[in-house]
Amino acid sequence: MELLSSEDAMIKQARMWMIGASAALWLVALPAQANELGDLVRSGDVAAVTAALDRGAAVDEIDGVTALYIACETGNAALAELLITRGADVNRPVSWQRTPLYAATKAGFADIVKLLLGHGADPNQLAKAQTPLHVAAEAGCLACVTYLVEAGADVNALTSNGSPPIHLAKLAGHDDVVAYLNSHGAQGPTIEPISPRLASADAQAGKEIFGKSCAACHLAAPGLKVPKRANLWGIVGRPKGSQGDVAYSASLKQAGGVWSLEDLNAFISNPALTLPGTDMSFPGLADESQRADLIAYLRTLSETPVQLPDK
Ligand code: HEC
Repeated sequence: MELLSSEDAMIKQARMWMIGASAALWLVALPAQANELGDLVRSGDVAAVTAALDRGAAVDEIDGVTALYIACETGNAALAELLITRGADVNRPVSWQRTPLYAATKAGFADIVKLLLGHGADPNQLAKAQTPLHVAAEAGCLACVTYLVEAGADVNALTSNGSPPIHLAKLAGHDDVVAYLNSHGAQGPTIEPISPRLASADAQAGKEIFGKSCAACHLAAPGLKVPKRANLWGIVGRPKGSQGDVAYSASLKQAGGVWSLEDLNAFISNPALTLPGTDMSFPGLADESQRADLIAYLRTLSETPVQLPDK
């Protein structure tokens, strides 16, 4: 640390006071509108908010959040409507790209969701890397989901880690939302068959992919049992979700059938998309040739590997 002579120190101290004093003056002089409007909205006082707007309070001022965001978050439809009528921007995001629609869907305020959509809120605008439909599906607000889909929300939109809304609804156990999404166009992707690639796939390369991407959660040798880590020995041709010692998701338990090479291909390409509600938190292996190598390796995890399919 620099040593100061006592004179220097006194000058420095005086300077600090001056800076402190002018900062305090500046704070006092700042307009308090943003805070005021937000606080009034929080208090739910419609007359006071109206009076503040009449006095010229800026309706879209961001002070951490906007007044409209607060109205949506707290479920005050009357205030949300007032602010919108007075020109509040329904799509204006606050921090983390959170929009008024995000606030209302997360809290399940369907009347406000309807209000916002009716005033031009974008049903597909991302907030925290999710669409409003993801948020509503996870929150289990069927009315919100319905309004969003009717307003043009993309039923098959994906989060940054590849999850569609129906996956979030299924994980959270919102069966009514799952049923609604299923009957309104939720569908997995069409995945090209992997069989034609398997004859020339490299099982050794697949073993390395397994080591990097799967081994943390799965075993691959006969007879091994570790709680929660499904053993993939003998996986090809095995009934889905059939190891007694693994706590499978309801989705996998109800999937039915055995793991064919093609079912494994689809599942591994994106678990959440092809088996909504699965507990396998793995974003998927998009690269088809890597998937072929991996499935060629999974096929070898057996005393008697199944025949390779004809090309
Ligand atoms: C983060 C942990 C995790 C990773 C990584 C992971 N899995 Fe899984 N896997 C799971 C869980 C959990 C389940 C059970 C899913 C359920 O119940 O919905 C599962 C289930 C499976 C199943 C069905 C098992 C059965 O008995 O029916 C297969 C097949 C599978 N995983 C293959 C893979 C492959 C191949 C990889 C690597 C590309 C992989 N997993 C990566 C956690 C993981």
